Amino acid sequence: MNTSASGREVAFVTGGASGIGRATVARLARDGFRVAVIDRNEKAVNDTVSTLQAEQLDVVGYALDVTDRAGIARAMDTEGRVDVVVCATGVYKPRSFDEVTDEDFRHTLEVNLIGVFIPAQEGARRMREGGRIVTVSSRGALGGLGFPDYVASKAGVIGLTRAMAMELRNKKIAVNSIAPGFTDTPMTRTMPPEQYAAAVELEPGKAPASPEDIANAIAFFASPGIRFVTGQTLFVDGGKSLGGLGI
Ligand code: NAI
Repeated sequence: MNTSASGREVAFVTGGASGIGRATVARLARDGFRVAVIDRNEKAVNDTVSTLQAEQLDVVGYALDVTDRAGIARAMDTEGRVDVVVCATGVYKPRSFDEVTDEDFRHTLEVNLIGVFIPAQEGARRMREGGRIVTVSSRGALGGLGFPDYVASKAGVIGLTRAMAMELRNKKIAVNSIAPGFTDTPMTRTMPPEQYAAAVELEPGKAPASPEDIANAIAFFASPGIRFVTGQTLFVDGGKSLGGLGI
């Protein structure tokens, strides 16, 4: 359980086949990790792995649903070592408080919240002292119009991060969260172009974050030097969470 074949630290990244997750996979692999991609989109997993392997990076893929506990446990046992888990899977669908159904709400919580809990718990069970868990919340956790289930799930991620950090601090496992602002990824590009442009206009610099902007912050919380920082949420949103609508 203490060595990977390559001798590198092993990082698991859920949602690692697209957007922020994929940029994180590339960044961590370049930082010297062996990176295991977990994502339900098999084609995108294969594409991510083959593209990065072509750059001689140590990346492997597991096409799995993030709520498939047995599958995730098997993948972690196959790797034989877990140093970092980044939980970057997420789903987002705009709909008003009045429109959202029980089924919609349950699905969002299933992927965005239980889908953080399961890989984090399986990872923590296999981590040694010095392990790191990084969750991906959202600036939307502070509130937002037109996606109440998403807001609730992402506020839940911050609460879960703090709870896990408290449980795991005596084992010296650090658990922190990144809360991105509006980021240019396939998720936000599902918006109609005029809605995407309107959302960008609301950002402080009138530009979205790039997936790499968010991956850089995730890499900080994933680095071995993080050690004494735990239970924190870092907003990576160009300052939008500071407010700015006047007094
Ligand atoms: P994305 O849609 O580009 O990538 C999400 C990935 O998660 C996809 O590859 C998808 O196949 C995978 N996925 C979805 N459900 C899954 C499941 N049940 N099991 C396994 N894999 C599953 O999204 P993006 O934008 O890169 O988002 C990454 C994270 O960042 C999400 O948690 C999202 O909520 C969060 N975020 C994104 C923001 C943005 O503006 N793009 C802003 C704030 C937070």
